[in-house]
Amino acid sequence: MTNAVQNIAEILKSHQIEEPKLEARMMVASVLNLEANDLFFDCPELNAEQEKQLAELVEKRINHYPLCKLLGKKGFYKYDFIVSEDVLSPRPDTEILVEAAINYAKENKAKKILDLGTGSGCIILSVLGDVADLSGVALDASVKALNIAAQNADNLGLANRIKFVHGSWFDEDISSSLGTDFDLIVTNPPYIPSKDIENLDEEVKAHDPLLALDGGEDGLKDYRQIAKISYPMLKEGGKIFIEGGIGQEKQIADVFAKEGFCLSTILKDYGGINRCIILKK
Ligand SMILES: C[S@@+](CC[C@H](N)C(=O)[O-])C[C@H]1O[C@@H](n2cnc3c(N)ncnc32)[C@H](O)[C@@H]1O
Repeated sequence: MTNAVQNIAEILKSHQIEEPKLEARMMVASVLNLEANDLFFDCPELNAEQEKQLAELVEKRINHYPLCKLLGKKGFYKYDFIVSEDVLSPRPDTEILVEAAINYAKENKAKKILDLGTGSGCIILSVLGDVADLSGVALDASVKALNIAAQNADNLGLANRIKFVHGSWFDEDISSSLGTDFDLIVTNPPYIPSKDIENLDEEVKAHDPLLALDGGEDGLKDYRQIAKISYPMLKEGGKIFIEGGIGQEKQIADVFAKEGFCLSTILKDYGGINRCIILKK
């Protein structure tokens, strides 16, 4: 480890940050405009301005500001996504849904995908990045989130294959305005019961938007509405890929079954949690 990296790693460790060496390398790399891997063996001298920037980053981090939002980017699936306080930080748990959607889209030669609650765009853009003939529509109720998603689409060279729509799944006629010819739908709605929000980690509670977290009294408010609007938007035989919170998979499957969907499978994330519910029209 280089000196600057080592010093910062020690500070982070003393504040119980879980991966101090990796985070220290990422912070130093960010002020030097380098990649973290560039600093394995050697670190260029930091000038006074860079030292100052780094000290500010460390100060915020030890006060539990999320690393990805400090650095403005988060690695998810195969890509780096721009993130800010306006979007949910993409979670590794969601990658299982992305992989399943990519496999399905490839095997079924899918042409159109819809993402309900796109946030940073991490799900739909990862799928589009891997499936060449696919185009997409992404809905979000937050204009600020859509701005970030649009920047991510530009950065990944996917802007010409995606249309962003500002609106809510509670809007009247939302199904007909989004379209009724989707081969697959992906969605990771807010799913934390309102009363549990105050018990979330500070990093989540204070820095992910409430609109991305709060799923109403039982955490299922948005699933009920998404189940209603999705059915008419999917082609016959099409599939919906849904992320759920811990222990919600059965209730989510029931909510969608009530609207006419048929359960295909439930996939575990890398932590062994039943995370992705897949249903067929
Ligand atoms: C849990 S976040 C998921 C973001 C992103 N898809 C991901 O997986 O990282 C849920 C997203 O749904 C959006 N959202 C919440 N309520 C909505 C509504 N009624 N209509 C449309 N989007 C909504 C939020 O703004 C947020 O971006």
